[in-house]
Amino acid sequence: MSQVSTYIQQHRKSFEDDLAALLRIPSISADSRQRGEVRRAAEWILSQFTAIGLKSELIETPGHPLVYAESPPVTAAPVALVYGHYDVQPPEPLDEWISPPFEPTIRDGNIYARGATDDKGQMLTHVKSVEAWLKSAGKLPLQIKFLIEGEEEVGSAHLPEFVNAQRAKLACDCVVISDCSQFAPGVPAITYGLRGLAYYELRLRGPKQDLHSGTFGGGVTNPANALAGILAALKDKDGRIQLPGFYEDVIELTERERAEFRELPFDEAQFQDQLGVKAVTGEAGYSSLERRWARPTCDINGITSGYQGEGAKTVLPAKASAKFSFRLVPNQDPAKITTSLRKFIESRLPPGLEMELIDFHGAPGVVVSLDSPYMRAASAAIEHGFGKAPVFVREGGSIPIVNTFADELDADVLLLGWGQNDDNTHSPNEKFSLDDYHRGTLASAQLWHELASLRK
Ligand code: BES
Ligand code: MN
Ligand code: MN
Repeated sequence: MSQVSTYIQQHRKSFEDDLAALLRIPSISADSRQRGEVRRAAEWILSQFTAIGLKSELIETPGHPLVYAESPPVTAAPVALVYGHYDVQPPEPLDEWISPPFEPTIRDGNIYARGATDDKGQMLTHVKSVEAWLKSAGKLPLQIKFLIEGEEEVGSAHLPEFVNAQRAKLACDCVVISDCSQFAPGVPAITYGLRGLAYYELRLRGPKQDLHSGTFGGGVTNPANALAGILAALKDKDGRIQLPGFYEDVIELTERERAEFRELPFDEAQFQDQLGVKAVTGEAGYSSLERRWARPTCDINGITSGYQGEGAKTVLPAKASAKFSFRLVPNQDPAKITTSLRKFIESRLPPGLEMELIDFHGAPGVVVSLDSPYMRAASAAIEHGFGKAPVFVREGGSIPIVNTFADELDADVLLLGWGQNDDNTHSPNEKFSLDDYHRGTLASAQLWHELASLRK
């Protein structure tokens, strides 16, 4: 291992340059105008794999391509599959970025760019650790497979089918994913649970065109008023979702988990400061970490209707729409939520409106077992890379493919986040600490060593 660590130490600069090169590619999966750039990011990763001597290929899907690579099999050692994504979220609002989103810039030891932490930087740590092994030790102590996709940020729609069809190719003992966060600076973590997601758009149409709100107001259903009413009805003042049956399948937190969450060094005042709010709110009876990690919720993601320009305009809009989503916990079924939601809205739709409910991506929540030799290997590797043993956390975000991996490949999933909660993922000024980048690479290199010693 020592020559591997030395290689990582000596190649800090080239690892940073490579990350910057990848961050310069605007691989925004949601933006059809960037299709070519998304592919260019895939090809860039492919070229990294070929340069370090892995057998690799670009795999077409109906959407953005997958990048697959693998090292040779190693007898009696487990097989690890690394999953990550090279696509990024749209960078808007652009004028809030201190440096442009696709011109990576280093300030205070952080690299700023869209995708820095989510997920280009985190994903690349595993490519670089494999490079370090191959360039210094000459070979890896276990077989490693890579599956890097370009549609995670739009729901991974085409991936389950691929995983299903390619179970033999992807066969592995554990899946390694770095696409989440540490608990805090200096407090590395292993994530054992993620929330799921059910995402919708509701469109309401009223009169055939916008109307004068004086001439017609009060005499015809205003779709914006109706939309506001329906959205407001989704949650009560205690933060409880009002859809019939919504909590039926929810698995409650155990007392033991609640006690473990309370042990974590969480400071609510500091959390408020970080967000710039004077109070935090949520479902009554639950702590901040419980609400965000292990309780379902509903948030409006965007609302559009009526006049948005300067000044006032007395108009009664012809249509109104909103995008909103539920975060789900394990055992909740996104399809069941859709059925319940449709009924809920239809029963509240005032006369004089037409509605359309669009069901975007859904993903179930997940909790993985903490008690496995792979977890212990990951814990030891993190302690080596970060100088501290990890705490065990759940997180509120979603990685849609994780359930499919666990079910179809019958593999243990290791969620090893190198990011920080204040990395501004999906927001302006996304960043990744370069120290975390290098520590993550070191932990990853150590992980291959630890996993290999779990002889099969
Ligand atoms: N890396 C995140 C998921 C994540 C965020 C995990 C925070 C843990 C903590 C991922 O790229 C992401 O943003 N996922 C989307 C899912 C989606 C678009 C279907 C999400 O959670 O909104
Ligand atoms: Mn991600
Ligand atoms: Mn993301």
